[in-house]
Amino acid sequence: MKKKISWKKIKAETQSVWAGEIESFPHGATQSPTVNSVAYAYDDLDEWVQVSKGGKSGHIYGRNSNPTLDVLEEKIRILEGAEAATSFSSGMAAISNTLFANLKPGDKVVTGKDTYGGTSKIFLEFLPQYDIEVKLCDTTDHDLIEKEVLNGCQLLYLETPTNPTLKIQDIKRLSTIGKKVDALVVVDNTLATPINQNPLDLGADIVIHSATKFLCGHSDALGGLICGNKKLIEKIFHFREINGATLAPNAAYLILRGMKTLALRMERHNNNAMQLANYLSKHRKVDSVYYPGLNTNPGHNTAVSQMRGFGGVLSFSLKGEESLISNFISKLRFAHAAAHLGSVDTIVGPPKTTSHVENTTKERSDLGIPENMLRCSVGIENIDDIKTDFDQALKSI
Ligand SMILES: Cc1ncc(COP(=O)(O)O)c(C=O)c1O
Repeated sequence: MKKKISWKKIKAETQSVWAGEIESFPHGATQSPTVNSVAYAYDDLDEWVQVSKGGKSGHIYGRNSNPTLDVLEEKIRILEGAEAATSFSSGMAAISNTLFANLKPGDKVVTGKDTYGGTSKIFLEFLPQYDIEVKLCDTTDHDLIEKEVLNGCQLLYLETPTNPTLKIQDIKRLSTIGKKVDALVVVDNTLATPINQNPLDLGADIVIHSATKFLCGHSDALGGLICGNKKLIEKIFHFREINGATLAPNAAYLILRGMKTLALRMERHNNNAMQLANYLSKHRKVDSVYYPGLNTNPGHNTAVSQMRGFGGVLSFSLKGEESLISNFISKLRFAHAAAHLGSVDTIVGPPKTTSHVENTTKERSDLGIPENMLRCSVGIENIDDIKTDFDQALKSI
């Protein structure tokens, strides 16, 4: 039996590889098996009852739990420094389960205007159906958010950096205010990842990830993860095990495998995005660059105070007509034009056809998303090749 590890003392690079996988698996396997079993059989009925009542660890049925999911949940739990974690079939399942498990008619949510498009649909379309009020504030107007929270609310929902405008919210400041009114403070940490930012350390109650993005890192699995204290996670897990938004074991394995290189990949994503942001901000055909690593960015100082790296996503707008965008995209050789981010390969797409495709032009404009904006998830390729590629594409338009 190996000595128990004090994970808080272990660095994220090592946690990414070893967390959840320190004990060997059945048959001495060094890698987590993908357990594709829906049911678990028991010869002893008493033992079965004990497991199903939680008196003994084990598994009963795949909608509730699974050994491969356990390993993945343990890895994110340790990376986020949390007491507990659970998983979902997608990032949106993680977000909606967190909201619906904790809110009831008459409750109020305070949040920023520019959350991810799917999230904002829940706020604008679905929560009001259940008589839950949603107060949308200008995302970086911290005074207004504080005022709305102090007026009373049950849940404060933050997303930082935001997708696609990369706005920064001060997690510590807003969590402190949330605590004053006993609101649950939830942070979507998808763009930052636990390598760049740990919201629970800054006072949040729940941290959410679309594991589909950087955690998986290879664009081949959908998943969602949340971390928090045991009581909160148990409550949300219970809702999920009943509504059935369970992560598939094969997807969990792919995310687990991707997460082993998370720290390594994020180091490269951070460096590449910073270099591309610097390059674009000096280019005469580029209007604005949105990246918190630039010291001209309004959220830069807050980002420096709460992030260890600025992430792999940036957005920029081109000078001139909107049609230049499709022209530019078609000229890129090392970039997929796709509705996705967080992968090893560079991905570009206009928010109007990706993250905010469900919004109207007016809604996008109100969110500060120009129609000629391009979001770029900078991959782990050699940055000189990426810059050369962007250079030839910009020259040709
Ligand atoms: C910040 C953020 N949160 C949540 C989601 C939703 O994740 P999923 O696509 O895994 O449901 C996305 C998807 O792009 C996202 O960018």
